[in-house]
Parts: sequence; C-alpha cells; structure tokens
Amino acid sequence: MTEPMHAALTERYGKPEELRWGDAPQPKVGPDSLLVRVRAAGCNPVDYKILAGNLDSLIPTFFPLVPGWDLAGTVEQVGPAVTSFQVGDEVIGYARQDFVHLGTFAELASVPVRALARKPAGLSWAEAGALPLAGLTAYQALTEALGVGPGQTVVVLAAGGGVGSFAVQIARSLGAGVLGTTSPRHRDWVASLGATPVDYTAGDVADQVRQHCPDGVDAVLDLVGGEALRQAPGLLSPGGRLASVMDPPAVKELGGRYVFVRPEPSQLGELAAMAEKGDIRVGLQQTYPLDRAGEALAKLAEGHTQGKIAVEVG
Ligand SMILES: NC(=O)c1ccc[n+]([C@@H]2O[C@H](COP(=O)([O-])OP(=O)(O)OC[C@H]3O[C@@H](n4cnc5c(N)ncnc54)[C@H](OP(=O)(O)O)[C@@H]3O)[C@@H](O)[C@H]2O)c1
Repeated sequence: MTEPMHAALTERYGKPEELRWGDAPQPKVGPDSLLVRVRAAGCNPVDYKILAGNLDSLIPTFFPLVPGWDLAGTVEQVGPAVTSFQVGDEVIGYARQDFVHLGTFAELASVPVRALARKPAGLSWAEAGALPLAGLTAYQALTEALGVGPGQTVVVLAAGGGVGSFAVQIARSLGAGVLGTTSPRHRDWVASLGATPVDYTAGDVADQVRQHCPDGVDAVLDLVGGEALRQAPGLLSPGGRLASVMDPPAVKELGGRYVFVRPEPSQLGELAAMAEKGDIRVGLQQTYPLDRAGEALAKLAEGHTQGKIAVEVG
C-alpha cells in the first residue's frame, strides 16, 4: 500500500476552483526518475487546460489528477540508473510525462532525469519553480524556431505574461532588439525587461511596429493566436520568420513554425545559468499556498498575469 501525501487534486474534469486539497498516492520512482520534495511549482495555462479536459486527445489522463508540470525542490530519492543527481540536491524541472496523473502540485513528484537541472542559486523556491516550462518555451522558440541573433529585431506578441516576459529577456541577451505587445496594465513591466512596449489595445499593431521599424522586423513570436497570429506576417520584413505556440495549422498556413515545448536538460541548465547571472528575472505576480492551488490557476485563467504565478509547497 502506497503512503499518501498532500496534494491539490480532482477526480473529474472541471474548473480550477474545483481542485481540492487532500491525500493522493505517493508517486513511484522508476530507474530513470527521481523523487523530488516539491518546494514550489509554477502555474501555466496548460494546467487549467488539462483540468478542463481540453488536452484529453493529446495526453492520456488518469484520476485522481494532480496538475502541475513545473517544480523546484530537493531530491529525496534517486532511481538506480540516475548518476547525475544525489539525495539532497536542489533542482528545478519541467516534469512533463507522456500522461497526466500525479503532477507537481503535491508534496512529492516523480520526475524523469531528462526533465531536471540544478536550481539557480540566488532565486527563491517560487522564482525557481516558475522558470522551467515558460523559460524553455521562450528559449526553444527564439533559438530553434526563429534563430534570433545579435542585431536582429523581434516582436513578442503578449510580452507581459509568463512565456513573453522570459522571451523578451532571452532575446535581449541573444543581442536582439525587442518590441512587445501589451495592454497599458503591463507597459512599465515590459519596458523594464528591455522591450519597447506596443499597446495592442490602442489600434493597429502593425502600424505601431512600423513607426519603430519601417521595413518590418526579422522575427515574430506569437503567444496569443487568433487574430494576433493572422496579423503577424504584416509585421515582418521580407524573409522574416514567424513562430507560434498556439495554433499549428494556422501558423503553418502562414509559413511559420509551431513550437511545442519539450524538456531539455541542457537548455534548462542554460536558463538556470542566465537566471543566476541576472540575465533573466522571474517576476512573480503572486504566490499561493498549495491548499489554494485552485485559486492560483483560476487567477491565471483570467489571462492577465504579469510575469508568473506560483504555488508554494510546505
Ligand atoms: N505550445 C507550447 O508548447 C506552449 C508552451 C507554453 C505556453 N503555451 C501557450 O501560450 C500561451 C501564453 O502562455 P503564458 O504562460 O505566457 O500565459 P500567461 O502568462 O497567462 O499570459 C498572460 C499574458 O498574456 C497577455 N495577453 C493576453 N491577450 C493578449 C493580446 N491579445 N495581445 C497581447 N498580450 C495579450 C496578457 O496581457 P494583458 O493583461 O495586457 O492582456 C498577460 O500578460 C498560453 O495559451 C499557453 O497555453 C504553449
């Protein structure tokens, strides 16, 4: 019989507010995995999309369902084939698996070694736990899909949120100039990250971008989809590149690349090093204790987060 642990969980698909605080079975640890005592877990839109059942056809789900794919914590147990970490190590992880069952909104999480890197020194648990998924998404989009480099100009659509705030900072540290769309609400935050804010609520975005870059920009990273994505090619210079995390058929039709983030330990290590050097700041709008994880995801689902929201455990 497996020991129980405290977690935020649900027995059926529903709204984030329906998550309850209770006992879940402790996860088991296979040869290539580690048991991590979770100290904090970042909240991501994928968590409330999974809870709603929206990703059912993409990722198998088992109930009780504990959401959460981000984490920062301490290694409690090491699988027999794991050589790179020891009990007591402080780690961060994007703990995605091929199924959703016992996620990171819990006291303990079983995490494949390929999902982990060392926790950056100097970051709080909550800051560190909010970095992996959104940081990797931004990093992979900018370096792999868009090939952003020194002297180029990039537009980030939705620069004020989780992925967007990391994308602005990573693009800046790659040597690029950045414009970022935002409402006036996050204008100062986006500017403080190093981007020129473009107010998407104040008329045509393409007109505003062309006031700064009359010939268009080298790359656009779309984190919004819909109309914003459809308008994105109009921001590009001839030969410019488009990537989106939102709508695979639409971005393909527009000649761009769809990005689906994946765990990548070397890139996570690179992100941790950037955070340690101060090249990346993790802006936490708010943290919630584990027994209010549902409230944290409901707040995120409003769609107006500045930076990140995280759940603190223990
Ligand atoms: N494919 C993948 O692998 C992948 C990976 C990560 C994320 N995603 C997806 O990417 C999206 C963004 O993720 P996230 O973590 O950054 O979400 P988030 O933190 O919840 O994003 C919130 C931000 O989006 C801004 N925003 C909303 N509508 C906007 C618009 N029309 N124009 C400009 N900004 C707008 C909001 O700013 P205002 O308050 O100013 O409106 C807010 O700051 C989500 O749908 C997520 O599921 C996909």
